Amino acid sequence: MKIAIGADHAGVRLKDELISFIESLGHQVSDLGCNCSDSVDYPDYAIAVCEQVVAEDVDKGILICGTGIGMTIAANKIPGIRCALVHDLFSAKATREHNDTNVLALGERVIGPGVAQEIIRIWLETDFSQGERHQNRINKVKALEEKYTIHP
Ligand code: RB5
Repeated sequence: MKIAIGADHAGVRLKDELISFIESLGHQVSDLGCNCSDSVDYPDYAIAVCEQVVAEDVDKGILICGTGIGMTIAANKIPGIRCALVHDLFSAKATREHNDTNVLALGERVIGPGVAQEIIRIWLETDFSQGERHQNRINKVKALEEKYTIHP
């Protein structure tokens, strides 16, 4: 798969550690920054990654900030993005099976690289369950997105 990854200054260390791990799983990683420890704004990196996901330039996105919360909030503002903040292995599997998430958010200040690697491994290898009830619920979320999108 092609994966876009982005982080703010509070997630950049974990991002840099995870890139070679993701590549070792056989995926191609596009690093969209940031690449320094200066304070930056997480929405800028959420947008960069999510726009590539929506445009289908990549298959999935991974976002990292201090808590993962800011990235999650920003990502889920973008129509077509279903982003989950995940800090445990059960949720990594469930959010692919039930929510068909296309973006994963992690908090560098919350978990270490070992847990982050296992979350990513499970999240990338788990398929959407294709269950009708899950698809119906996703369709309802898409309807909400459409209802509250302002069309010029
Ligand atoms: C940056 O200090 C921090 O607020 C940010 O990385 C993130 O945790 C926000 O949700």
